[in-house]
Amino acid sequence: MDRFACLSALALFVAGSADTLAQDARLALGAKVFDTDCKTCHDTGKAKNDAPQLSETSEWKDRLGKGRAELYKNSIEGFSGYFAMPPRGGNPNLTDEEVKAAVDFLLYRAGLWQ
Ligand code: HEC
Repeated sequence: MDRFACLSALALFVAGSADTLAQDARLALGAKVFDTDCKTCHDTGKAKNDAPQLSETSEWKDRLGKGRAELYKNSIEGFSGYFAMPPRGGNPNLTDEEVKAAVDFLLYRAGLWQ
């Protein structure tokens, strides 16, 4: 490997690790918010309350069809398609970033992280 190729490989490696770290941090935040504010309705085995469940890929894939920005918006402002998703999961103290991280976590667990 010549010096340039070697440096490029190193740059790619560093950039890749930074992406992974950012993703890990976001998912850790999302998991924490999910546990405190979303789990009551979105955890697995709660299908009877009509909220899309954690890891339910086909359900989340359909919803993601509206675009991630729409899912963020509906989680922050509340959404009532057929049932009721309360604004910020019912916790007005959550910041937009916390709610968005929880949405990302839900998508990640459904295998739909992009
Ligand atoms: C009180 C129960 C409840 C809580 C708590 C709750 N949700 Fe929901 N959520 C729902 C229901 C019910 C739906 C389905 C609404 C529909 O399709 O009409 C939903 C739908 C959603 C959707 C899909 C919206 C769309 O446009 O299709 C997202 C994303 C979501 N919730 C994220 C969250 C996040 C993030 C939290 C925690 C911060 C949370 N929810 C907390 C009940 C809840």
